[in-house]
Amino acid sequence: MTIGELEQLLQNNAKKTTHEFKRLFHGRGGLYEGWRHLTIDSIDNILSVALYFEESTEDKLIKMLKEFTSTCQKYDTLVVQRRYIKGAPSEVLLGSVADDLYIVENEMKLKLNLLNNKNNYYFADMKNGREFVRQNAKDKNVLNLFSYTCAFSVAAKFGGAKSVINVDMSKGALKIGMANHSLNKLDPRGVSFLPYNILKSFSSLKKKGLYDLIIIDPPTFQRGSFEATKDYEKIIKKLPQLASKNCTLLASLNSPELESEFIINLIKQFAPSFKFKKRLKNLDEFASADENKSLKNLVFTN
Ligand SMILES: C[S@@+](CC[C@H](N)C(=O)[O-])C[C@H]1O[C@@H](n2cnc3c(N)ncnc32)[C@H](O)[C@@H]1O
Repeated sequence: MTIGELEQLLQNNAKKTTHEFKRLFHGRGGLYEGWRHLTIDSIDNILSVALYFEESTEDKLIKMLKEFTSTCQKYDTLVVQRRYIKGAPSEVLLGSVADDLYIVENEMKLKLNLLNNKNNYYFADMKNGREFVRQNAKDKNVLNLFSYTCAFSVAAKFGGAKSVINVDMSKGALKIGMANHSLNKLDPRGVSFLPYNILKSFSSLKKKGLYDLIIIDPPTFQRGSFEATKDYEKIIKKLPQLASKNCTLLASLNSPELESEFIINLIKQFAPSFKFKKRLKNLDEFASADENKSLKNLVFTN
């Protein structure tokens, strides 16, 4: 695809929205040869671009995006994040970005920070996972492992969860998680935010259990904190002690290298009372050339 064709695609997909997050171009999915390094998102008047590695065409691309933003009626702000540079810095090339930005997804307000290094508080591709949690949370005691900014917790509360325990070693992420709950005016009773290293806190999580809905959504690799290839099984091994009799498990992984079978086999081996039910469908906006390499959201029941 040429830069001109990309511009045409943006023209076709551009959308003036109110607090809606929309992926306009998902080069990472591998469906556009030569564009794996690029994603473009639309949030209201903002065009938000992420570059995952450096390409010789970058200057031309930025020039096109600047022209597009200034001439297209729908956008006036352009933010570019260079994820291939250490710290993944973001730069506002046109316009300005409000500090209190948030998006609305199925009536839930979730904070978004386009100027944060690396992650922006909101994983857009997890929308179907959040919908699943919301649909399956009624009157449940929920354990949200690797909660980050607690979007699953907001979804669970919208779905009528009895209690939610959010666990993440990042206090900063949990603070945003609390703000996400206040933003939605959710009753804070029954929701906790625990800044624990999950791999070292099973006994205290066990004391607060048992749980009827467990979410495991770890990073694939975070140096010194979690490595899916060796640490995912440590969590699966503890499931029988944490799960209630009819517990539902949402086990997620966003690794191109590890396929669904990796998790399904761990469950068979270490928590065989759980049965695999289904893999949740990924969003069309995030279509991938190889579904095995894209986000896995696997549902099991005890
Ligand atoms: C992929 S994000 C989770 C996304 C989140 N579930 C959501 O829906 O937005 C991974 C999170 O895992 C946390 N993390 C990584 N290793 C951890 C560990 N050993 N214990 C607790 N949290 C950990 C990171 O701080 C990060 O917030």
